[in-house]
Amino acid sequence: MKEEFEWFRDHHVENMERMFAAVSDLYAEYWNDFFHFATFEDEAEDWSTAFERTHRRYLDALQIRNGSTVVELACGRGGFADFLAANSAGEVLGIDISRSQLSHARRHKRSNLRFLHHDIMRVDELQERFDAVVLMDADCYLPDKGAAVERIARVMKPGGRLLLIAWCKREGLAGLQEELVLHPFMRYWGIPSLATPAYYRQHFAKAGLRLIEEVDLNNKTRRNWDFGYDRAIAGIRDFSLAKAAQLLWKGLPLGADGIRLIKEQFPAALYIKAGFDAGFLRYTYFLLEKK
Ligand SMILES: C[S@@+](CC[C@H](N)C(=O)[O-])C[C@H]1O[C@@H](n2cnc3c(N)ncnc32)[C@H](O)[C@@H]1O
Repeated sequence: MKEEFEWFRDHHVENMERMFAAVSDLYAEYWNDFFHFATFEDEAEDWSTAFERTHRRYLDALQIRNGSTVVELACGRGGFADFLAANSAGEVLGIDISRSQLSHARRHKRSNLRFLHHDIMRVDELQERFDAVVLMDADCYLPDKGAAVERIARVMKPGGRLLLIAWCKREGLAGLQEELVLHPFMRYWGIPSLATPAYYRQHFAKAGLRLIEEVDLNNKTRRNWDFGYDRAIAGIRDFSLAKAAQLLWKGLPLGADGIRLIKEQFPAALYIKAGFDAGFLRYTYFLLEKK
């Protein structure tokens, strides 16, 4: 497995393009158009209310004002960037490394919304500086998370805010525990490494980012991984090679590898549930300000 993780790290552009060309429509059909978690206030709350409230909370945290420039990093299918553009006076840019994901994002049309094919690891090459930056549910794929934090900080204006919703691993896990649950999930999802909250805190400080708030959201997001597990079971019942072939994005020839990537999403969902239920995976909210 070590070689696979090194391959994910050293070939992250190709890895992500292929992964999301294979799984984008699968996730949209079995999970949601948003590839992030909803936070729930109580068991009875329905999904659309929970997503709406979660998005409002994230929007408020970013403090977008008239004329603010906003970038959503790893914007995926564009739903949250569209929400930001619809509910604020900001100029919103969504970037993503996957052309398949962007082909869906571009369905959203607004005068204050743009999308760009771009790598987070090269974010500092953009000729723009931002008042607000969002990165949700994608940090785990980054080949060097510390370098990414430093480059993100470089494109933030002083006083600008960063909202990072991170897939962290718990502090102090033994190698054997990681091997049993986290490594299989990382392998199926093309993840090179997972960071702890302490790792991020250290890199925020180094990059000149002041931590305003950090919240472990596991208790409020449990229903997401339970739902992911249930949908994986439903997907296994429905599964056929013909159906899998239909779900692959046609803009990138993936062949048999595309079918393999789709098949691997079913065990990934089981290991994700195990990882969260064991407390090894921590869904962590960080809100930061550039000094
Ligand atoms: C799980 S999805 C989350 C998408 C979106 N943030 C959402 O919550 O719906 C992960 C996204 O990260 C993107 N991604 C991964 N590595 C990236 C990178 N280095 N630069 C830009 N996008 C990246 C993938 O293409 C994919 O769209």
